[in-house]
Amino acid sequence: MTTNDPSSHFVDIRQATKCFTAPEGGMITALDGVSLNVGANEFVTLLGPSGCGKTTLLRAISGFEELDVGEIFIDGQPMADNPPHRRPVNTVFQNYALFPHLSVGDNVGYSLDVAHVAKKERNARVVNTLDLVGLSGLERRKPSQLSGGQQQRVALARAVINQPKLLLLDEPLSALDRKLRQAMQLELKTLQNELGISFVFVTHDQEEALTMSDRIVVMNGGRIQQIGTPTEIYDRPDNTFVANIVGESKLFEAAVVEIANGLARVKTDTGMYLTVESDRVRHGDKVTVLIRPEHLQIQSGGPTERPSISGTLQQSVFVGTDFQLIANLPDGGVLKAVIRDSARDAVVGLASGMELSFQYLPSSMHVILSKSPV
Ligand SMILES: Nc1ncnc2c1ncn2[C@@H]1O[C@H](COP(=O)(O)OP(=O)(O)OP(=O)(O)O)[C@@H](O)[C@H]1O
Ligand SMILES: [Mg+2]
Repeated sequence: MTTNDPSSHFVDIRQATKCFTAPEGGMITALDGVSLNVGANEFVTLLGPSGCGKTTLLRAISGFEELDVGEIFIDGQPMADNPPHRRPVNTVFQNYALFPHLSVGDNVGYSLDVAHVAKKERNARVVNTLDLVGLSGLERRKPSQLSGGQQQRVALARAVINQPKLLLLDEPLSALDRKLRQAMQLELKTLQNELGISFVFVTHDQEEALTMSDRIVVMNGGRIQQIGTPTEIYDRPDNTFVANIVGESKLFEAAVVEIANGLARVKTDTGMYLTVESDRVRHGDKVTVLIRPEHLQIQSGGPTERPSISGTLQQSVFVGTDFQLIANLPDGGVLKAVIRDSARDAVVGLASGMELSFQYLPSSMHVILSKSPV
């Protein structure tokens, strides 16, 4: 979902800026002119390194942090004068924050009890919500009698039972082991579809961001680096920071030295030549060329038409679904190629020290035009 129609912006964040006074002296700019919108029923993920402002942005949306500059609208309403409990928003935290002395049912029903919802309706909604998160029948357990994944589901159930229009999730899966995390990623996405509400999800795990999101917002140093769908962020990063945060990247700093027949020849700062598509570049442009390991191939047969990069094989590692080849480049750099297991014929018989030619399609080389400051 990448619409620019303002009426579909369920959340509209304009120029959000927040500074903190550091106890050790000086100011920290946690958010620096962040503008972002979230559509109705959209799953948006904030991705970025520790300290880049993700939690601060969530806290500003939920009303626990006041902005220095900027505005936040939810469902068309300005939020500045609305305290947290008057916003149609709930938050799920990393550490679940369940009440240990209350049963699962009472944890989930807590907000309905506070709102004095009639017992019958309250109980029905608790049962339905536990069903939604796959915890039917566990109402009477205490949190300590549940696994980490089950506790996280209780936290989710508690956050959605009062039907918020927007759910904020601050690294909710980071305490879970890898397998459970992957299962929960899919469940969360399904849950979001079933509820039909907007999610703003925070993570510093790129796989999580790519798997679940309609759009990813890459942040660094309190600023948005890029907003895009997972494929836009992965295939066409706007700058080297974004290129490095998702997937594995080999980046070459280079200058365009020749353009002919829709292709540009670039010379890297270390003296290598690469071929890229020329539609976005002009002669003399300084560029950064990004290549992903899966875009390289090795051919066991004769020469091909494709451009290639030569390298000396350092090691070949079988990792189940594919082979990872690590090669040393003439410029002293290291190149990684991922060869699918289905192309294993090309890999059989390779040995360390062999000279290899890594072929690529010019269209698979992504060109980053300006070296944006990060
Ligand atoms: N109350 C506060 N007082 C002072 N500095 C703060 C405060 N809250 C956050 N910061 C600072 O603001 C910056 C952004 O913090 P924030 O918690 O938003 O980062 P984050 O992206 O959520 O990081 P993480 O991935 O580690 O959770 C950090 O430099 C942090 O130290
Ligand atoms: Mg945080």
